[in-house]
Amino acid sequence: AVAAPSLVDEILRLKKERNAVILAHNYQSREIQELADFVGDSLGLSYKAKETDADVIAFCGVHFMAETAKIVNPNKIVVLPDANAGCSLEQSCPAPQLEQFLKVNADKNYYVIAYINCSGGVKALSDCICTSGNAVKIVEAAPKDRPILFVPDQNLGSWVMEQTGRKMDLWKGACYVHVEFTRDSINGIKEEYPDAKVVAHPECTYAVRMLADEVCSTEKMVHYCRDNPAKSFIIVTESGMLHRLRREVPDKTFIEGPTGHCRCADCRYMKMNTLQKLHDCLKDLRPQVTMPEDVRKKAEKPILRMLELSK
Ligand code: 13P
Ligand code: SF4
Repeated sequence: AVAAPSLVDEILRLKKERNAVILAHNYQSREIQELADFVGDSLGLSYKAKETDADVIAFCGVHFMAETAKIVNPNKIVVLPDANAGCSLEQSCPAPQLEQFLKVNADKNYYVIAYINCSGGVKALSDCICTSGNAVKIVEAAPKDRPILFVPDQNLGSWVMEQTGRKMDLWKGACYVHVEFTRDSINGIKEEYPDAKVVAHPECTYAVRMLADEVCSTEKMVHYCRDNPAKSFIIVTESGMLHRLRREVPDKTFIEGPTGHCRCADCRYMKMNTLQKLHDCLKDLRPQVTMPEDVRKKAEKPILRMLELSK
């Protein structure tokens, strides 16, 4: 008898049939990362989404990432495994609230820089988008004669202020995963592995960033760990990153940074995606990202500005 095709085979078959590309964020499960055409950080994924000539983009990440892919590709079909894969940062800054804030503070003439972890509505209200991989560069390129409002992540915002010396007004949002790492949890693991270097994402709090040897985006973590002479690294970000690192830097040891109450940190939104849901979205072409054309057009401008500035 002929064996039934596996789920992975079926996904690959559908991908070909649909002329689809599978993009996956570094926080996805190992199975999804292994099957994706490209795995990367928010910045790398934005470039890939912009460049692809596929007809369908299957985006394994969270909703705002798939939405960004749609904004720069209005004529392509963008599907995601689970439409409920949100982000606490996105939720912390609803577009109507930002709009109201900008109205009340119109006299300030803010230059608004939005971290890509936000809705299309917020992007549409912004002057430039940034990711953790280019935030320093984007802030340095902002007009010097206007105050900056940085939304929605206050931790990334304060890290960029430390790096650039540029003062900014910060929206008070946070990533619910990264704020769970504490000074005590990281000091504890450092004691256990005294030779390991600590690598943390800039969405972590100041107290945690202070304990890190390197603070950077998920993509830069790969380069840092590969190029650094150290043999072991404590990774202070979402757990999916460990798969990427173990796959690409197999000769080194990666230790999960513990949070205040568990051994590793999972983003419940990132982990909503499964192989079965990826299969189904390619088969049904649903759920799809859609958005009003006027919002899309307004949101596209600051994304393109970012892509241009961080080349
Ligand atoms: P990166 O752009 O560094 O991959 O970060 C995305 C994210 O969601 C961090 O929580
Ligand atoms: Fe959003 Fe945090 Fe999850 Fe990243 S890890 S998608 S910032 S909730």
